[in-house]
Amino acid sequence: MATLSAQLLAAKPGFQRALRAWYRIHARPLPWRLNPSLYQTVVSEFMLQQTQVKTVLPYLARWLGELPDFAALAAAPESRVLKLWEGLGYYSRARNLHKLAQTIAHRSTPRTPQEWQELPGVGPYTAAAITSISFGAPAACVDGNVVRILARLTADATPYRDSASASKAFAPLATALLPAANPGDHNQAMMELGATVCFRQNPLCLTCPVVKFCAAGRRGDPENYPQLAAKKLEQVAVTRVWIERRGALLLHLSAGGARRFANIHELPTAAQAGLTEAAAKQGKLLAKKRRGITRYQITESIHAAPASAKPKAGWPAGLVWVPLPALDTITLSGPHRRWVLELLGKRSSD
Ligand code: ADE
Repeated sequence: MATLSAQLLAAKPGFQRALRAWYRIHARPLPWRLNPSLYQTVVSEFMLQQTQVKTVLPYLARWLGELPDFAALAAAPESRVLKLWEGLGYYSRARNLHKLAQTIAHRSTPRTPQEWQELPGVGPYTAAAITSISFGAPAACVDGNVVRILARLTADATPYRDSASASKAFAPLATALLPAANPGDHNQAMMELGATVCFRQNPLCLTCPVVKFCAAGRRGDPENYPQLAAKKLEQVAVTRVWIERRGALLLHLSAGGARRFANIHELPTAAQAGLTEAAAKQGKLLAKKRRGITRYQITESIHAAPASAKPKAGWPAGLVWVPLPALDTITLSGPHRRWVLELLGKRSSD
């Protein structure tokens, strides 16, 4: 890798030129690129942290329509902020963005990556993206896409334990490749290349603007890089209950604070409803849903709680009865909104 990195760095001006020329023509006309502002850049980078561009677009449009600047966001109630985020997942991002707006409303705007990293929810990637795009800071964005590109450019066969250690290893090379002029465009060009050309599988080497700088492209084995250890997946089973009385559905509302699902409604787990797993499972199985969150493979079984399953000591704290017509007005986590709609729809068509 060392020699190939040196070769790439020796060709740096040509590499930067080829990438920039390609980006000028092929960049997708994304809203945060068409009329950039610091606020739009910050909001879009938070939304993009764990979510794909095409999913983010309608959320961003709605968000900017309702909360057009830092002041509006800082003044909004948290329930409104979470409602606008509903369905994007990883709700701590929304809470952190809200806190960030409240923090910078009271001080001068931070400009360096170090200052941005002191704000809630801003890691090295987001700090580099915001400051390079908005202030021309010489900070390189390094995420899975960029690691993939750099590992291929240098045919780096080093085995990495996980994507965090690979990002750390490639940060110096990513930084060395940054141009002094418009580092934000360079960062976005790298992201764009990763998202639209240098795919994990079947990369489009024939149309790649920097293939002549790419060691793996020359060898014809780009899919061999980077060498990342396979994630160890953990299986988790969750039992949830569907309890409806007099036109209202029983939901669990997590308490405020730092928890990931604070102030978000979900169908209660057996334990949250004060039931044993065995008691909950006596009810009819209404749906079985599988989903993956980070390294967890979660199987969720939703049971109609049997009438006999009412907890002896009354319903535990954190449970709320939500009238069915009010379901639209509360914040449910994305999958739970889909499941509730599906189960209500299924029942009305039975
Ligand atoms: N992913 C993270 N930031 C991005 C950006 N600015 N453009 C496209 N994809 C991104």
